[in-house]
Amino acid sequence: MKKPIQTDSSVSPDTTPSANPWETYWKGTRQCSTYKEGETDSHILTREWKQCFNELAYPTVRMLDIASGYGIVARMATTAFFSRPHEITCVDISESALRAIADKLPSVTTRVCDASRLPFEDCSFNLITSQFGIEYAGEEAFSEAYRVLEPNGTFMVIAHLDGGGIHKECEANYAALEQFRETLFISRSIHLLETKMKRESTQAEIDVALEKAKPAIKATAELIKKYGRNVAGGTLDKIFNDVARISRNAQNFAPEEVFKWLKLMEVEMQAYSQRMKSMCTAAIDDHVADKIKSTAKSKGIIVNKFEKLPFSKGGKNCAWLIHGTKVVRNESI
Ligand SMILES: C[S@@+](CC[C@H](N)C(=O)[O-])C[C@H]1O[C@@H](n2cnc3c(N)ncnc32)[C@H](O)[C@@H]1O
Repeated sequence: MKKPIQTDSSVSPDTTPSANPWETYWKGTRQCSTYKEGETDSHILTREWKQCFNELAYPTVRMLDIASGYGIVARMATTAFFSRPHEITCVDISESALRAIADKLPSVTTRVCDASRLPFEDCSFNLITSQFGIEYAGEEAFSEAYRVLEPNGTFMVIAHLDGGGIHKECEANYAALEQFRETLFISRSIHLLETKMKRESTQAEIDVALEKAKPAIKATAELIKKYGRNVAGGTLDKIFNDVARISRNAQNFAPEEVFKWLKLMEVEMQAYSQRMKSMCTAAIDDHVADKIKSTAKSKGIIVNKFEKLPFSKGGKNCAWLIHGTKVVRNESI
């Protein structure tokens, strides 16, 4: 029997794309587009996680992975701790993401919650991890993580870097998706296809619908040219070409199916855009980095590393690597 996924009451039950774009994303997507630039199997990230896990000498590792998504870090940890006692808990704001973890890693405990309000007692874990996640919940989430970490516990986070490679890609995706929305391409396409699909439509009516759709078609083609075919995970290019293909043989397609698909695309692209915006907002700049460091110090965390990391050797910096240890009680900071 599947383990139930607990949901914390602080998480809004509203899972509409605007309220929880991540839920929409994880529900509908298998891969996180963030990682296009280097995939999470980036040797550098994997090496950092392996090194962190291998250095730990706790008799039982009690790990909390924050904003786990599909559980990439939890999976690496499960392998690293295979022959040692360990308990892994994953939290995320998206139930669908955690459902995927529960299905693949049944030994992992999952809990839907907002990372800025962790539903755990102080000092509950000796290892806190997060990869491109905790920063979405704001600076309070760092304080929360420090709170639930026990003395001598380890804190290891890889977070979005403001101005880094991922940040720049997200900014371009967001700009392209917002401009695409303004073209009204989807509503104009629906009107054009509807007119073409109706057997009783006259050629004059089709021509009018086409004239109306032309500015949206032109603007979308220009957007794809400007930002590249891969922008927003290739979704703009795909929808543009699919609409053109359907339009050429409109009579051969079932209207309900086509309109359902276009409406779904509209919702997914809205969620995609919101996600890109939240990634841009989450990225940590030098000023916020200083604040995180000083909060860490005030909460008893000795920061061992706070550095910028590329995804590949010689590549652009993409992330912050933050590694700390919580001081043992009564030890001076
Ligand atoms: C870029 S994905 C990273 C997922 C995963 N850690 C990985 O490396 O693939 C960001 C994750 O943060 C989660 N998230 C966003 N805001 C959150 C919040 N306030 N509290 C908890 N999780 C959040 C999203 O659902 C998503 O799974």
